[in-house]
Amino acid sequence: MCGIIGYTGNNEAAERIIYGLKKLEYRGYDSAGIAVADSGKIKRVRSAGKLENLVKKLKGGSIPGTTGIGHTRWATHGKPSDENAHPHTDCTGMITLIHNGIIENYYEIREELKKKGHKFSSETDTEVFAHLIEEKISMGIEKAVADALKRIRGMYAMVILYSKEPGKIIAARQGSPLVLGIGKGENYIASDVPSFLKFTDKALFLEDGDVAVVTKEKVSVTNGGKNVQRAVRDIKWTAKQAEKAGYPHFMLKEINEEPQSFEDTILGRFDELKGRIEFESVDDKKLAKIERIKIVACGTSYHAAYAAKYLVEKYSGVSVEVEVASEIRYANPVVDKKTLLVAVSQSGETIDTIEAFKNLKTKAGYSLAIVNVVGSTLSRMLDGVIYTHAGPEIGVAATKTFISQLAVLYLFALHMGKIKGVLKAKDVRRGIRNLRKVPGLIRLILKDREKIAKIAGKYKKNRDFLYYGRNINYPMALEGALKLKEISYIHAEGYAAGEMKHGPIALVDDKVPNVFIAPQGKVYEKLISNIQEIKARSGTIIAVTNKSNKEMKKFAEDVIYIPDIDEDYYPLLAAIPMQLLAYYIGVKKGIDVDKPRNLAKSVTVE
Ligand code: F6R
Repeated sequence: MCGIIGYTGNNEAAERIIYGLKKLEYRGYDSAGIAVADSGKIKRVRSAGKLENLVKKLKGGSIPGTTGIGHTRWATHGKPSDENAHPHTDCTGMITLIHNGIIENYYEIREELKKKGHKFSSETDTEVFAHLIEEKISMGIEKAVADALKRIRGMYAMVILYSKEPGKIIAARQGSPLVLGIGKGENYIASDVPSFLKFTDKALFLEDGDVAVVTKEKVSVTNGGKNVQRAVRDIKWTAKQAEKAGYPHFMLKEINEEPQSFEDTILGRFDELKGRIEFESVDDKKLAKIERIKIVACGTSYHAAYAAKYLVEKYSGVSVEVEVASEIRYANPVVDKKTLLVAVSQSGETIDTIEAFKNLKTKAGYSLAIVNVVGSTLSRMLDGVIYTHAGPEIGVAATKTFISQLAVLYLFALHMGKIKGVLKAKDVRRGIRNLRKVPGLIRLILKDREKIAKIAGKYKKNRDFLYYGRNINYPMALEGALKLKEISYIHAEGYAAGEMKHGPIALVDDKVPNVFIAPQGKVYEKLISNIQEIKARSGTIIAVTNKSNKEMKKFAEDVIYIPDIDEDYYPLLAAIPMQLLAYYIGVKKGIDVDKPRNLAKSVTVE
């Protein structure tokens, strides 16, 4: 959460920082600010609200200088206001800094510093850090920062400017992401790569405990006071991939990229003739010894994991538990050397998932991360990593990365089935054939998207929705409801349709649409019974079913058709209308679907 960008080089820092902040706005957008060091002074401009407010404030007034830092905020301590916007300073205005994360002991430090005469001008936890540095600035900025870091508990990504050393940025990381962009005669420090990708594709990811000193010529990193070397990685994403490319929203662009993301994720990972799946950094011998699997994730990634449970159990006979990261973190899960732990995360930076794994990892026989962002914390933390190759996702709601997670998890289920001897090569071949069809079938759904836009128009005023599915399509009902909540601010719940009579049927009336994911297959008739039960009570049905199902229009007010495929593979298609329905309802309600209120792309605080 929150986006940080720092720049030092020969160009105007403000320009590079505003550019970077535009790319980072998906991480938080309730206030923004910038500080630039020049001629022994630091100039700071801040504004509540979206970045455009800061840009307006900067217009006309130049903010010269070639070293600076900028921030787009997702509030934790203190409401979104000019005063609480970062950067923050000490009493002298010579130390200026930005912080992502939470300083847990800020209150006690603040009270202590107040007694020493420090004056605070914001409600944030961050401001205490500037004052802590001020206390020890006579030691020199680097030592003062190191000393201040020893005083704080919690999580942080910090960037610090000191007016007496204007070409230098000091950065520190503990728990929140920070990545350096290594350029020619200029360097960047940011929360995420797209903020500097136009200028350099060389990235150095900081680790927890790292402190970096960044000038235009040089970057040095220490950890615990000792020099450390961190690898510089080539980033394969292009800056163009992170642009809107003519679409009105990133979300729609990213939904339209799903066929490509899916293809990019599966290609190169199977040998169709031999009926074999191959993952680059996975130890198959370790997988062969596994008797239980625990998948840990949050939000949409949790829903992808939930779908995988049905498949992996069916294809391999290995028991799978799916856990919400924030819950397992404080529970006492049974994990042993026969257990495979899997993290599913788009960003690879979700704090609950990371923290859950810190406790569990050593107890497990083997651990794998399924992650989109190359070099992210989770990708480096576990025994093996499978990248989802979806490319950068900027829209706050996960769409194409969800489809790519499913792609990996389907491959993984087939792979596990083969390793455990439950699936034969011919079964895997059939699975691969289905997966290969998926991108083309998603394209067909996307071609027809205007029909979904029309349905969205009909229901945009409804205040509550219920989503139902059974078996492997149940997680898609959960995901459909989540997408609608996030993007349209409509209350929605996802249910296993068999649970309907255990409670939600009491909600049936003519005001709550019921979305059924009901392709034909082994539980289809059960779903039709549920639909009939709702119809008998004057409820409204929106059904997602397969194209060759001719009877659904008898039961449902609106039917969204998806192409026919083997029944296990329907979630890969049903997910798309769920996303489009939420997207169009959100847009028709005038909501900024790329930046829905209160959300941030990457949840890096608890
Ligand atoms: C929903 C959404 C969130 C994320 C969740 C986990 O559209 O984006 O629910 O899925 O915050 O994030 P990652 O996958 O980055 O761990």
